[in-house]
Amino acid sequence: MITIAAAIAYLIGSISFAVIVSRVMGLDDPRNYGSKNPGATNVLRSGSKAAAVLTLLGDAFKGWVAVWLAKHFALQFDFGGATIAIVALAVFLGHLYPVFFRFKGGKGVATALGVLVGLEPWLGLAALATWLIIAVFFRYSSLAAIVAAVFAPLYYVFGHGAAWTADPRIGTAIGIMSLLLLYRHRKNIANLLAGKESRIGGVKGPSG
Ligand code: G3P
Repeated sequence: MITIAAAIAYLIGSISFAVIVSRVMGLDDPRNYGSKNPGATNVLRSGSKAAAVLTLLGDAFKGWVAVWLAKHFALQFDFGGATIAIVALAVFLGHLYPVFFRFKGGKGVATALGVLVGLEPWLGLAALATWLIIAVFFRYSSLAAIVAAVFAPLYYVFGHGAAWTADPRIGTAIGIMSLLLLYRHRKNIANLLAGKESRIGGVKGPSG
């Protein structure tokens, strides 16, 4: 059961809304401009706010729906936290390494947000609030994602009032997701340190 759930979640995660939305709306493929990342931030560099919002919603939705399905079936068939944790990771990995797009996916920010909302809505809202605060003050999407990724596992553990009331399997999945997200942002981190990172809403340059 756990393998089937993980495979379905991985396939759901492999649907790249950045590529699909751009294609449907007649825009350039986001893998060919800006940061070349198939994600909402880079789609925004095309100049289409609508496409960026649709990408954000689609990528977040797939993270949410995979976890929601796992929780739903967990209640039906009495499988528990381990499957939900694996599904959370699998949908995220599908976004990062999608089977439908030669394993070249995005950085996972919107999908992670959807996963967190699916796991516990307050956790998703806390991560989103963190992202928004940093984004509003610093205007760097990547920095906002990096800070939110660092805080998300802490929110999960401490949000439960005490570390031992949190499910360690879910906590571990969130921790791994955060580490992978940071890894996928390594170029952004280098750009931020070098003062070369482009701010939110920047235009479609060769390096983003
Ligand atoms: O959501 C990805 C964002 O954190 C960075 O995107 O295109 O600037 O590398 P990008």
